[in-house]
Amino acid sequence: MVSMRIDGLDVQAEEGWTILDTCRFYGIDIPTLCHEDGLTPYGACRLCIVEVGEGKNAKLVTSCTSPAQDGLRVRTHSEKVVSTRKMIIELMVARCPNSKTVQDLASKFGVQQVRFKPKYEECILCGLCVRMCKEQMMSGAIDFVGRGKDRRVTTAFDEKSDICRTCGGCMYICPICELRCQGPEPPGVICGGCLDMTPTCLDHYDDAQCFMVESGCGTCVRESKKVKEKEEER
Ligand code: FES
Repeated sequence: MVSMRIDGLDVQAEEGWTILDTCRFYGIDIPTLCHEDGLTPYGACRLCIVEVGEGKNAKLVTSCTSPAQDGLRVRTHSEKVVSTRKMIIELMVARCPNSKTVQDLASKFGVQQVRFKPKYEECILCGLCVRMCKEQMMSGAIDFVGRGKDRRVTTAFDEKSDICRTCGGCMYICPICELRCQGPEPPGVICGGCLDMTPTCLDHYDDAQCFMVESGCGTCVRESKKVKEKEEER
């Protein structure tokens, strides 16, 4: 057993638990975006930050990747944590304003304005799809390529993957395309992005890799074209 203190409360954690595991066990709410039970923690979104240590040695760490340690002092809602988390959410809204998941986070944590230019990106680089494909679907058809602003998720050589089984696991777990805000705007949202909806799918994907093509997710340009063509045929 590991003994530590979270928000002034003496707690005990099992060996191998992370700070996030411990907080959840004790009912302390920590927001997460790139964390999913059953997938290896990745530490991409930084939303789960907490403050550890005291005085000058205090620092922010991601609770989903930081192990519970004996004697650790953790603050989950310090001023620094709250303000940094709001900034992280603000950056998320700027990157992916069409994501319902991100909009919900902004509403929940009181992000009222976004000071950065909206990018309307299709991917927030959380890596959930990559881990889902590799670890749960045992496929590994997609991965990250590039660095910095060029970082993105794709198949090998941007070509149709022979090992993709079109299971849809990547889309199922994606916080951006799976839960895209469908409008109309609920009170409190700050983007207005649903008025200018773009396709949910990654356009560099081949048609065959979109499991929604047959059923239609309702926001895809290809889908709208199909409907339009059918209407014109009538
Ligand atoms: S949930 Fe911990 S970094 Fe994303």
